[in-house]
Amino acid sequence: MVIVYQSNTGFTREYAQMLAKAEKLKCYEQGEGPQPLAGEEVFYMGPLMAGHITGLDQAMKRYAVKGICGVGMSPPGEQVLGTMAKTNYTNNLPVFYLQGGWAPKKVGWLKRRMVGMVTRSTRKALQEKGSRRTPEEERALSFLVRGGSYVAYENLALIQNWLRQQ
Ligand SMILES: Cc1cc2nc3c(=O)[nH]c(=O)nc-3n(C[C@H](O)[C@H](O)[C@H](O)COP(=O)(O)O)c2cc1C
Repeated sequence: MVIVYQSNTGFTREYAQMLAKAEKLKCYEQGEGPQPLAGEEVFYMGPLMAGHITGLDQAMKRYAVKGICGVGMSPPGEQVLGTMAKTNYTNNLPVFYLQGGWAPKKVGWLKRRMVGMVTRSTRKALQEKGSRRTPEEERALSFLVRGGSYVAYENLALIQNWLRQQ
């Protein structure tokens, strides 16, 4: 098994390289530099964009994808996993989710505006809550405004367990 990833702002790259190092697997960036041979067994990792795992379709066409990981900015949970499975062609393969980060300064204006819509609705909902808003909600809003990273080695545990059983 090898790791293939795509990354726009670097969070998926960080996870892919961390995982490759820990599990002693080769790691390739899709479309950049040397590529694995077609048909090779691959664990694919890509950033989420409006629910879609970037680059997954291309990877599914070229490789024997054995497992999939979406990297997004939402907190992990059943909801994200369900949406990912519904929105993407995952062919019933194991799907994982990692919380990456948000880097507003590294994306173009259109993408910043798309996330900006989420930020505005979050801010509005919090304003309506007034003093009943929780510190966690405040942190979530500040993350959307300023950006930040949730990349952590510990988050990889589930994927590492799965990889070791392959
Ligand atoms: C236009 C746009 C749409 C996004 N849609 C989602 C989404 O649906 N779900 C999510 O969790 N994160 C979403 N994100 C956040 C990215 O997935 C997140 O920043 C991710 O860590 C980026 O990974 P990368 O640094 O490898 O590109 C979106 C970001 C942008 C710019």
